[in-house]
Amino acid sequence: MEMNDLQARIEQLKKETNAVILAHYYVRDEVQQVADYIGDSFYLSKLATDIEADTIVFCGVSFMGESAKILNPRKRVLMPDASADCPMAHMADIKRINQLREEYEDLAVVCYINSTAELKCCSDVCVTSSNALKIVRTLPNENILFIPDENLGRYIAGQVPEKNFIFNDGFCHVHAGLSADGVKAVKSAHPRAKFLAHPECKPDILALADFIGSTSEIIDFAGRDEAGEYIIGTELGVLYELRAKCPDKKFYPAGDSLRCQDMKTITLEKIVHVMETGENEVHVSDALRSQANTPLTRMLQLAH
Ligand code: 13P
Ligand code: SF4
Repeated sequence: MEMNDLQARIEQLKKETNAVILAHYYVRDEVQQVADYIGDSFYLSKLATDIEADTIVFCGVSFMGESAKILNPRKRVLMPDASADCPMAHMADIKRINQLREEYEDLAVVCYINSTAELKCCSDVCVTSSNALKIVRTLPNENILFIPDENLGRYIAGQVPEKNFIFNDGFCHVHAGLSADGVKAVKSAHPRAKFLAHPECKPDILALADFIGSTSEIIDFAGRDEAGEYIIGTELGVLYELRAKCPDKKFYPAGDSLRCQDMKTITLEKIVHVMETGENEVHVSDALRSQANTPLTRMLQLAH
């Protein structure tokens, strides 16, 4: 089927199955075009609690669909590709978390939403890149174990010197793949451009940034800023929204690594397939759901 036919079929299926499509900014342009809502991880998780339609088709990686199901268990959540997973979501060790809990009496385990439901179950609160600073500052605990992303953890820790942070060595290969020399070369090729970076980038990359924020924050910054030229230090799916919102501004990739294969695996054909067949429905056991729901709900409360 041609792209237009697939998009028309999806619109028809939305009506027939009372479904809405949620998409992260990193998915393919043509997938963002059929989405009812597009956003960063925080926006999409908040939104998942308010959806009235029977079915949520989640165009994102597995922790996103899983979080939507945990937050709104009565909905049917379909993933267009069940293999789309965020490698970082698995990069923390439950044994180490338990050991540290024994060592530090007041430990708060702060869990980036890019994590499995099992890791969320071992955590006190979830965060995303757009609310982590606010939430960590609100916590009464002095000792913070930040999982799984070391780079986001270090970025937040740098702004909260009054707390003792313990890090975990997880990382996003897409953002961590940027090199400082590569970014410097793009900066010298575009000396008037501001460098906008996601906090999943390594500290030496963040040191070069004019602005650091989540995907939505990067898009908002580019929309209101006057510079007119920007080097983008996050996955390049954001270019779709950036170009739509700022047609007169120029955007340059900060490096060649900025493609998340897991996000790009979602296609229009796969969306049609799951909407027609009901395949790839997200299931979370009641026990896992009720435990993982606590840190997610606490995030939604503390982020206000
Ligand atoms: P945000 O959309 O919260 O900025 O997260 C980026 C990301 O890597 C999602 O997987
Ligand atoms: Fe995971 Fe990185 Fe892809 Fe985000 S960009 S889903 S953190 S691998």
